[in-house]
Amino acid sequence: MSLVYDYSNPTAIHFGKGQIASIVKHLNKDNKILVVYGGGSIKNNGVYDEVSAALAGYDWQEFGGIEPNPAYETLNKAVEIIKAEKIDFVLAVGGGSVIDGCKYLVAAGLYDGDAWDFLDGSAIVEKAIPLGAILTLPATGSESNGAAVVSKKSTNEKRFFHSPHSFPKFAVLDPSVMSTLDDRQLANGLVDAFVHTCEQYLTCPNTSLLHDGYAETILRGLVTLAASWDNRKDAIWEENLMLLANQALNGFIGSGVAQDWATHMIGHELTAFYGVDHAQSLAVVQPQLLRVMIEEKSEKLAQMGENVFGIKDDNEAVIVAIEKLYESVGVTTNLNDYERVDDKVIENIIPSLEAHGMIAIGENQNITLEISEKILKMAMK
Ligand code: NZQ
Ligand code: ZN
Repeated sequence: MSLVYDYSNPTAIHFGKGQIASIVKHLNKDNKILVVYGGGSIKNNGVYDEVSAALAGYDWQEFGGIEPNPAYETLNKAVEIIKAEKIDFVLAVGGGSVIDGCKYLVAAGLYDGDAWDFLDGSAIVEKAIPLGAILTLPATGSESNGAAVVSKKSTNEKRFFHSPHSFPKFAVLDPSVMSTLDDRQLANGLVDAFVHTCEQYLTCPNTSLLHDGYAETILRGLVTLAASWDNRKDAIWEENLMLLANQALNGFIGSGVAQDWATHMIGHELTAFYGVDHAQSLAVVQPQLLRVMIEEKSEKLAQMGENVFGIKDDNEAVIVAIEKLYESVGVTTNLNDYERVDDKVIENIIPSLEAHGMIAIGENQNITLEISEKILKMAMK
């Protein structure tokens, strides 16, 4: 089948050490800027100081305290400031949570209703305050895509929206800011980027001579980084993770081809109920989803086996190789390894998937609630 797609990625990328200073190319002295960050890691690694130095002479204020899996309740406090202070530029400094949270802020800042409307699908984003991003954790690709995932703590919901208005105008990717990341976050970044690539590649065959090669390059790169995990504090290792995670979800490899995303939809519910990190949720769901869908995905699993892992004619071995990859960087594939997980997983997750309309997911819309239940039961080893 021939390819048909619309693709636009308007985010300017400033990559490399020292690039934080480039933010001023996108700002002017008339802007009223809100710098938004998370729990304070940027104050321990020099990033806050670099941002402050770059913004000397600009009109800026700050909002800190965006938590991992950004909360609607916290974000709304920043929306009040944006509206009261007439903020006209938001600068996100952090990982996916801060950047996603800021995508909510820039849409909510120009919206009269309850901006949860964007998350529950009752409204679409029609305009947004300009946003810039300084990435401190390579994982989600949020720095140059239009997606945002926001959680409502009061109802254990984690929902997403996507809009062309949500792309950051620019993103600074300076790998030297990764030096303070702990192993858990580095491993999360590697796993998240790997699963993002799979969601757009491990589906059904396509006719493009480019897409699969591009995706396989990303997957092989991440396998190489996992194999050289001992070098994770080297600048070149960090630089490569930042490159790979960015390209895994900047939209190109998924353009015009089948996309899955069922692992993400089930994983989001696990995070909402049990607080497992985003990538941790993916590592427990994806291998079992691949087992359940092994026939349907057989051609791409075989292709991945050959081109990524050097495995021939054994799709179960490919799935085992994926599990070993995650476990090699310390991310378990067993949901029962998380203490917070109770015996109500099915009782909690399945009705929630149903409430969110996730009743026919995956590239062929045939992962029903029954199949999601089977996947979750298999994930509790
Ligand atoms: O809050 P601070 O103090 O900054 O600490 C953070 C946080 O505790 C810390 N951290 C970040 N950079 C650091 C650092 N610690 C030391 N040194 C640094 N340089 O890391 C912790 C986790 O940060 P978080 O932003 O939550 O992680 P991640 O980037 O993995 O983002 C996860 C969120 O993104 C969503 C996830 O669902 C989750 O809510 N996703 C967004 C996507 C998108 N927009 O396209 C796609 C993804 O599939 C994903 O769903
Ligand atoms: Zn993800």
